[in-house]
Amino acid sequence: MGDFEVNPFYELIIDDLVNRKYSVIDCFFSEEEINLLRANLFLKQDLENFKKAAIGQASEEQIVEEIRGDSILWLDEKKPDEVEKMYFDKVNNFIEYINRTCYLGIQEGEFHYACYPKGTFYKRHLDVFHSDTRRTLSVVLYLNEQDWTPANGGELALYLQNEDGTEREEIVQPLPGRLVVFDSKYIEHEVKMVNYPRYSITGWLKTR
Ligand code: OGA
Ligand code: MN
Repeated sequence: MGDFEVNPFYELIIDDLVNRKYSVIDCFFSEEEINLLRANLFLKQDLENFKKAAIGQASEEQIVEEIRGDSILWLDEKKPDEVEKMYFDKVNNFIEYINRTCYLGIQEGEFHYACYPKGTFYKRHLDVFHSDTRRTLSVVLYLNEQDWTPANGGELALYLQNEDGTEREEIVQPLPGRLVVFDSKYIEHEVKMVNYPRYSITGWLKTR
């Protein structure tokens, strides 16, 4: 721990995660970096290699548009382009920090671009699978255009427990550049009906 330096910005995210199991961060990436990531997503989308997202895992994968209507493209961390490398460098720096300070034991990540066309949504769910509980933190970075408005819908709803055991809904607007980090094992969530194409990179930080 000789060269360890406290990062006050990361500490705020960690405080949130410890206290309420989620954090919403608006300045993890610069506006320019977000513009580059969005342009990169559009480029890959033009190549038409996005696939309808499935639910379930491995042999149990199914496409069910009544549950989720987005199309996705997995990032290949072994062959990142220049823009993706910038994304991975920043995320991996954060992973290294939380592993050192919180002993989370994050060993790997998996990340995909996501596009929700108008009229799609993702019904309430938990990000861990019954047969595979390695997903520890969910990280969603919104790449929507700068003039995104609430009328576009597509809010992320987080279902949180009050101290008295009742439930409340925390609504998060998918604003460009906004990063939402939450506990994959506890926080049920949903993407509300989208009225205008909605773009993101969604990832999961996983234990071995
Ligand atoms: C998911 C998901 C939330 C969002 O892809 O599992 O819940 O806001 N995404 O895009
Ligand atoms: Mn999810």
